[in-house]
Amino acid sequence: MIDLRSDTVTKPTKDMLHAMMQAPVGDDVFEEDPSVNAFQQKMAHMFGFQAALFMPSGVMGNQVALKLLTNPGDEVIIEKKGHVFNYETTSAALISSIQLHSVQGSNGKLNGDLIRSAVRSGQDWEPLSKVVVIENSTNKGGGACYSKDELSNIKETVDGLGLSLHLDGARIWNAIETTGIAADYFGSIADTMTISFSKGLGAPAGSMLLASKERINEGRRIRKMLGGGMRQIGLLAAAADYAVEHHRSFLKEDHHRARVLAETISGCERLSINLDTVETNILIFDVLEGSASEAVKLLKEKGVQVVPFGPKTLRATFHFQVDDEDLHYAQEVFIELFD
Ligand SMILES: Cc1ncc(COP(=O)(O)O)c(C=O)c1O
Repeated sequence: MIDLRSDTVTKPTKDMLHAMMQAPVGDDVFEEDPSVNAFQQKMAHMFGFQAALFMPSGVMGNQVALKLLTNPGDEVIIEKKGHVFNYETTSAALISSIQLHSVQGSNGKLNGDLIRSAVRSGQDWEPLSKVVVIENSTNKGGGACYSKDELSNIKETVDGLGLSLHLDGARIWNAIETTGIAADYFGSIADTMTISFSKGLGAPAGSMLLASKERINEGRRIRKMLGGGMRQIGLLAAAADYAVEHHRSFLKEDHHRARVLAETISGCERLSINLDTVETNILIFDVLEGSASEAVKLLKEKGVQVVPFGPKTLRATFHFQVDDEDLHYAQEVFIELFD
């Protein structure tokens, strides 16, 4: 079975497991895990932040960030396709008592004008606009990336309006691969940022919250409150560190394979895709006949798994455990079923 459902489906390699077994560990709730401490420092430095905090998941990282940046009753501006808006099971409302204000952008991306049009005027009867969340690369937005100009336009807007900026960088590694933006630039524009090791990099678990020292100290309390205090997780930090060191170089091939399949799909009579939207490892496309769930079923019967992303929309995602042979097979299946 060729699994293109998500880049989260990879299994740890033997070498990654070996690195995990070598890791010195301690109790991370006491801040005594040397592997976690070193890896947090390494990631903070890489992305230009003062400090970092290992998180069991990206959702927890995003939600701790929002709790740090808001008070109950505040509002957060986010693009309509944002993960925090669609796929975090209303946790912003439950955990932080805040409201999400979703705005229609393009391929999951916001810009200065959209932010300015969404910001509230400060009247007593309105929520208080506090934070802007952006995602880079976008997930539901089809893997689109922000250019440096787009990011600096957002930073300027957010600063001008007195808002904070949270960057959901679950796939920042893919965005960096595509745009060439230096990792430490993100620390100069975002107040808080989450990065993930369990997507295209292929670690079994783990994300990280990046922020100022003060926010990370407070974030540690919130993580504990949410049940995210963990013990000998140097094992996971070692897997994540291994992934950063050894799997980043695979992303370029993932992006290339995504583009090749996108081109095949664009040639299929019964499918539609906008090739301009394929910038990283994700492709989003539509069926012109029948439903997305019927197409998922047909593809699965032929040994190719993708996910439905709407009534007529599907998503395929590449990762390093899909090779060229798998890609060629998937191309043949798409042509056989949809051309
Ligand atoms: C953009 C984005 N943010 C956050 C997450 C959440 O990450 P996790 O599954 O580790 O909670 C995901 C998961 O796919 C994602 O795509």
